[in-house]
Amino acid sequence: MYLTREEEAILNGELGYPYALAMKVITTVGDSLGAERLIPVVHAHVSGISYFNIGDAGLEFIESLATSNARFQVFTTANPYAVIIDSSYGSLPEDVRSKQLKIINYLRGMGARAFTCAPYYVRRPSYGEHLAWAESNAVLFANSLIGAWSNREGGPLALLEGLLGKTYAAGVHLREGRSPKCVTSIKTEGSVSFFHLSLIGLKIGELCPDSIPFVEGLEGVSEEGIRAFLASFGSTSNAPMVVFNKLTPDSQELLENSDIEERFSISLGDLREVLLDFKEARESGGILYFIGCPHLSPGEFAHLLGRLRSVGKRDSSMGELWLGVSDTVSLDEEITNYLGRIGVRVVKGMCPVTTKLSLVGIKYVVTDSGKALHYMPKLAGVKVVIKDREEILREFLRG
Ligand code: F3S
Repeated sequence: MYLTREEEAILNGELGYPYALAMKVITTVGDSLGAERLIPVVHAHVSGISYFNIGDAGLEFIESLATSNARFQVFTTANPYAVIIDSSYGSLPEDVRSKQLKIINYLRGMGARAFTCAPYYVRRPSYGEHLAWAESNAVLFANSLIGAWSNREGGPLALLEGLLGKTYAAGVHLREGRSPKCVTSIKTEGSVSFFHLSLIGLKIGELCPDSIPFVEGLEGVSEEGIRAFLASFGSTSNAPMVVFNKLTPDSQELLENSDIEERFSISLGDLREVLLDFKEARESGGILYFIGCPHLSPGEFAHLLGRLRSVGKRDSSMGELWLGVSDTVSLDEEITNYLGRIGVRVVKGMCPVTTKLSLVGIKYVVTDSGKALHYMPKLAGVKVVIKDREEILREFLRG
């Protein structure tokens, strides 16, 4: 790979260990993918910061950078963590909590601006911007809905790219890397709910596990609906992008310049069989209602708060409702206390999916997220019931 004189100097240690390491790793990855040069990025997003996922080795890696004066050179955000830090909940082992706090503090010290899996609500990228993002739903959102350019990076690589402010020019940073390879036509009647969009996303991910699909049939769906689709799609496919007919910028041009290898047609009847019954969960206890995977948009959060404000009374021993949002969201004390009384907890900067919920007595999670459905049984140790958001609210409020 061609390096400028300045990049060579960084590689040789002129700016110190963290930056030399970043240059070495990024150029090695870039070389292996045939990149010819580095390109600047304007926003990095780091994933994989749950202590349950990265353990002591991950903590030590981040610590070694932070204590060597590493600082992010571009706007950098990070994924949510695995503990609730502004209130006590359950009894996660104390060393998990303290090690998770260390990871958060090191990243903050390096300049991380927010902890959320929806960095596009903290800083919305522009069309054509190059990014180094490492959270699948975020990468898919940026490439597919905004027309920004980001590979689907691993967490440590995105962290190093944030330190350097650069990435390697390969994959979807090049126009030829953005071509769809399979076409999927979706047959639906009338409007499609978020719940169905989540299941359709999982299905298309299974059909196109390694290639960018061109999707037709979702032309009238809102940005938030497409977001639900993308988060699920990213759980079953490695592709960094989906080209949606008429929704993705330049969708026709991308289709015209592609070699389509496969075609699929799916309808709602083809979707994954899932656990749909509240009854078993309600009867066995240990139930958690969870909305916000990925973290809620400001509009979704305001809508949900509006719905919950008028509830008045509810027996909070009948299971809590967690609303996942960025740690940058602020809520006044009066509302927080009111929500607490009806069993609603706003979990800021946190990801329940990567937390061992089984350790705090939760057996069932009721959610509208296909991504949570896919990962929670394994990562959180719980069973998952998937439902439409309105139905979850109705069931929760019945409690
Ligand atoms: Fe976010 Fe965790 Fe879901 S990072 S997308 S809440 S799995």
